[in-house]
Amino acid sequence: MRIGIFYGSTLDNTKEAAEQIKVQLESDISITIDLYDVATCDVQDMQSYDVVLIGCSTWNIGELQDDWYDKFSQLDTIDFTGKRVALFGCGDEGGYPDTYQDAIGIIGKHVRELGATIVGYWSTEGYDFIDSAALEDGKFMGLAIDNDNTAGLTDSRIQMWVQQLMRELHLESVHA
Ligand SMILES: Cc1cc2nc3c(=O)[nH]c(=O)nc-3n(C[C@H](O)[C@H](O)[C@H](O)COP(=O)(O)O)c2cc1C
Repeated sequence: MRIGIFYGSTLDNTKEAAEQIKVQLESDISITIDLYDVATCDVQDMQSYDVVLIGCSTWNIGELQDDWYDKFSQLDTIDFTGKRVALFGCGDEGGYPDTYQDAIGIIGKHVRELGATIVGYWSTEGYDFIDSAALEDGKFMGLAIDNDNTAGLTDSRIQMWVQQLMRELHLESVHA
């Protein structure tokens, strides 16, 4: 199974989350996980992965982070059929409560239209926001991280989400 992480990040919050997710997954399973910064990579590289983790922060009131904004249309070149996609992102529930983590929903809904199966839905419990394009059936479509308001929860949220992903993707069976 090939796993790739593709992130876009302006102030490095999502970048750091991506690095943490990679380290944690690699410490639990015997698979090397490739990490790509969308600012410099070819989004077409996603094609070769069975599982794709996509990280994107939300900016400009409900918009994708700049690098993902520029490369969003490149997603259309990928056949996501049979691929599982997990999403994560950073946002600010206090400053932007009506568009909290919208990027997760914008990308998630689009890649699903392109054939992906979304994994890694995350409970909204413990979050304080009004609305989000990332909501589906009362859950976030991926891991919502908020270093502006709840930085103290980031490590444990990442840890729990990675454990959840391992179960959903049946990765427990490939322990190192
Ligand atoms: C001008 C501006 C607009 C923002 N808009 C949103 C928003 O609509 N929704 C949200 O959840 N966060 C919003 N944020 C917060 C950022 O997403 C947050 O600071 C995040 O940690 C940045 O992650 P990054 O360093 O990976 O880019 C905004 C921040 C700024 C400065």
